[in-house]
Amino acid sequence: MSVITKNKRGEENLELVVNGKRRLNGEITVSSAKNAVLPILAAALLSSEQVIIHRLPQIDDVSVITELINNIGIQTRAQGDSLIINGDIKKYKPSYELVKRIRASFLIIGPVLAKNGLVRIALPGGCAIGSRPVDLHLKGFAALGADISFNKGDVVAKADKLIGSHIYLDYPSVGATENIIMAAALAEGTTYIENAALEPEIIDLSNFINSMGGKICGAGSNVIKITGVKELKKTEYAPIPDRIEAGTYMIAAAASKGEVTVKNVIPEHLKAVSAKLIESGAEVEEKNNEIYVCRHGDVRPVYIKTLPYPGFPTDMQAQITTYLSIAKGSSILSESVFENRFMHVQELTRMGADIRTEGRTVIIKGSAELTGTDVYATDLRAGAALLIAALMAKGKSVIHKSEHIDRGYENIVEKMNKLGAEIKER
Ligand code: EPZ
Repeated sequence: MSVITKNKRGEENLELVVNGKRRLNGEITVSSAKNAVLPILAAALLSSEQVIIHRLPQIDDVSVITELINNIGIQTRAQGDSLIINGDIKKYKPSYELVKRIRASFLIIGPVLAKNGLVRIALPGGCAIGSRPVDLHLKGFAALGADISFNKGDVVAKADKLIGSHIYLDYPSVGATENIIMAAALAEGTTYIENAALEPEIIDLSNFINSMGGKICGAGSNVIKITGVKELKKTEYAPIPDRIEAGTYMIAAAASKGEVTVKNVIPEHLKAVSAKLIESGAEVEEKNNEIYVCRHGDVRPVYIKTLPYPGFPTDMQAQITTYLSIAKGSSILSESVFENRFMHVQELTRMGADIRTEGRTVIIKGSAELTGTDVYATDLRAGAALLIAALMAKGKSVIHKSEHIDRGYENIVEKMNKLGAEIKER
């Protein structure tokens, strides 16, 4: 069984008490990427032998996915920050209690279908940021020859054998690209995914599967070719650093008018965030696997449109909206990826930000003097944005439902306090 080392896991209604007007100074080291680790843990199910994943971030989403693969029969054992994964799938229907905890649970459908020929999993519900359909995932499995049906809110996917196919994605969905890669890895013949997602996490997943003997090429481009193999073997693998965690600290540094070096990053993955910070008047310097960020002058307003990679990441939208609330002038930001990712706006407004929402666009008036107060996190990135706002604000803030933040930021309180923040967990 896996050792869940997080002592807070699964607890609800956690709070962070934050004293504001803190400048962040110093350096932090970024953990492995949540959005690389989750599909990689799912893809480990494809192997017939032992898999070891190193430098696993201690975050709740990773604990949930680990429990999920345990639940279908796979043994896992934590050894420091590595996870040893062994064994075969014994159950084709994971527990609903676990599946409903995170949307990324849906990523196990591809590997279980490929390995076991039958899988039944609850359709993921929508969440705070949108309806989040899975039609492109299912379209991919059907194209590979799976029989897809629905039963009391579950999806049932069946296939005696998956056969390689040509799949065109109507939208470059990250999850759909990942799920189809995993299903196609053990299919008979060759699969092409066109209009595939380009995210770095797709490349990492492909490198991981190839390290087990898979034959995937073109990841990171919009056409990915997967040549199915009979079986996948043992491997040890360390995922890429978390570009969204890195970007969050970069924005927090600029927002607090501090000076921070973010270590263990791949600067290439942060081009869009660095460019926008520079446009807004911050200083950004890339050095090998570190990025230095500081700000001395005023924040200048900017225009932003979130886009699939390599565009400005939707997962950084709430954080940069917070930062732009103090710009000298109005910024306009449109959210093209999710239909409802402005839940943080009403909380920022209560802290004194002047932000108007019009459909998928927000007009951030700027020149706000943020004041600390009680605010509520609604999702992971909104929670991170409220933490940045609390650091910028005058006085004390309490961030309620801060367990949302623990889902994707390893030791964020410890890392922030090391930079000079004053945050207490309660
Ligand atoms: C991944 O979610 C990330 N999660 C998200 O990060 C991230 O915001 C998102 O990609 C976009 O970059 C993980 O990797 C675990 P999508 P995913 O499929 O795969 C539509 C975070 O904060 N769509 O690319 O669910 C969908 O409705 C999280 O770390 C369909 O229409 O994202 C959305 O509008 C939040 N049909 C758009 O595509 C489908 O079948 C992007 O979704 C699938 C998606």
